[in-house]
Amino acid sequence: MTLDDLASELKCSQSTLYRIMRFLIHYKVFQGKPISETTFGYTQTPLSRLLTSNGKHSMADLVLLESSSVMLAPWHKLSAWVLGNEELPFEAAHGVDVWRFCAENPGHSKLINDAMACDARIGVEAVIKGCPKVFEGLRTLVDVGGGDGTALRLIVGAYPWIKGINFDLPHVVSVAPESEGVEHVGGSMFDNVPKADAVYLMKVLHDWADDDCITILRKCRKAIPQDTGKVIIVEAVVGREEDHEFKGVGLLLDMVMMAHTSKGKERTSKEWSYVFHEAGFTRFTIKHIRSYHSVIEIYP
Ligand SMILES: C[S@@+](CC[C@H](N)C(=O)[O-])C[C@H]1O[C@@H](n2cnc3c(N)ncnc32)[C@H](O)[C@@H]1O
Repeated sequence: MTLDDLASELKCSQSTLYRIMRFLIHYKVFQGKPISETTFGYTQTPLSRLLTSNGKHSMADLVLLESSSVMLAPWHKLSAWVLGNEELPFEAAHGVDVWRFCAENPGHSKLINDAMACDARIGVEAVIKGCPKVFEGLRTLVDVGGGDGTALRLIVGAYPWIKGINFDLPHVVSVAPESEGVEHVGGSMFDNVPKADAVYLMKVLHDWADDDCITILRKCRKAIPQDTGKVIIVEAVVGREEDHEFKGVGLLLDMVMMAHTSKGKERTSKEWSYVFHEAGFTRFTIKHIRSYHSVIEIYP
């Protein structure tokens, strides 16, 4: 697309747009290319494709969430909290925690659910590719904190004999799309978790402090058969000694947890081991996959 076409499509000044495009080309978001002897244009790159809203692996909704004024405001409260102010950054900015804020603001709740769904599409694909045996032998699976059900929809699509239960807060499941093989159930994981052969917990525990994780995991333990059940946790494991391409993502998310959650954090394997043990689980395995998530299986 030429600068001319782009400016008229966006209805903006060519000279300002030129400067923005020059910057984005430098960072490989777009590529500049001669279209003819006299005209110069812009083409997409793999990076800009991730930011468009229609691709299978689009991350557009995640970028829209993180750059929303609601999610940016807590960053301005972060240093006060780090320096000893009792009030957590998100609560200092908005008066309530992020999940209560979502319950009261359906528009922001949708932004979060859509953002989580685009991350889940990439994450679940990596879990199925990197750890296909993790779902073997399961007839029922409950996704605790499953958002709009995207993860479970993909899992049930790949393992159609599994009956999925997508469990999340009532205001989340009440607007989740229907999908074959997936039942939506509303409630709080701090009260009760629906029974199933296994529990799936993806990017949920990192939102919470150790004590909260222990409470959630105890509820999960009660929901599964004590002899054959397991909890499948899909989360980052930080502090791994070996170098890997996703190291920076886990560390970045740890900063995001500081700004946006109630004392959530990304955990090392030693920190994970502590919460599993305190919640009454006797053993666990960790498998690293081609994602910033790892697959952790824990057993009663
Ligand atoms: C970071 S999102 C992860 C969503 C999904 N598991 C994924 O990976 O895309 C955390 C989810 O936990 C849910 N959640 C928060 N508090 C909850 C509670 N008390 N009980 C059940 N779900 C809860 C939120 O509504 C949200 O959908």
